[in-house]
Amino acid sequence: SGDDAFASRLLAWFDISGRHDLPWQHPRSPYRVWLSEIMLQQTQVKTAAPYFERFVAALPDVPALAAASLDTVLGLWSGLGYYARARNLHAAAKFCVEHHGGDLPRDLDALTALPGIGRSTAAAIASQAWGDRHAILDGNVKRVLSRYHGIDGYPGLPAVERQLWTLAESHLPHARMTDYTQAQMDLGATLCTRADPSCILCPLQHDCVARIEGRVAELPVPKPG
Ligand code: ADE
Ligand code: SF4
Repeated sequence: SGDDAFASRLLAWFDISGRHDLPWQHPRSPYRVWLSEIMLQQTQVKTAAPYFERFVAALPDVPALAAASLDTVLGLWSGLGYYARARNLHAAAKFCVEHHGGDLPRDLDALTALPGIGRSTAAAIASQAWGDRHAILDGNVKRVLSRYHGIDGYPGLPAVERQLWTLAESHLPHARMTDYTQAQMDLGATLCTRADPSCILCPLQHDCVARIEGRVAELPVPKPG
């Protein structure tokens, strides 16, 4: 299972070509990782970065966020859009103060129970904040895995999504989970892009089914109907 070619090649590529200077990586903390993952759900890294810096300067930890007014939080979010994210962040911080001693819970189910955190975001937080071994499956990872394994179904279908989760879990390394999670995001964002993938630079090209079979442009399968 773990430490297969997928993970080891991806990690070797990440060391040389991944993003190592993102604001939430220095310093890394559960709070900073959480905030970054919520911002990055619907916002590009380049846009999110200055908002992230302002937000953590004003509200540096979970208790500070919980104690702030909703107006303050929405003001710091102003311009990022999808304001439900800011409301959920504020509500989740209050819940963490009341039920988790002012910290984020180091538990996937407890993270998923917080407003604004789904399964993949919970896994992205746990892997990057604590190095815990959990698979992520966001839009970028769905695209990479669909191509790498030559998956013929639309990734939005429940049966296909289940298959992709299983494949994502099958590739998990036994070390370097923080880097591994970031590496998947970076590959999907910089090489295995939707419209113009750079297979010739890709560390996975030799085992990628879509690449080998000339089906990169057809995968992932678009939404039917
Ligand atoms: N999208 C979601 N999480 C991300 C991360 N940590 N880096 C880049 N893009 C992301
Ligand atoms: Fe994506 Fe191409 Fe790499 Fe396959 S070889 S994972 S299609 S960039």
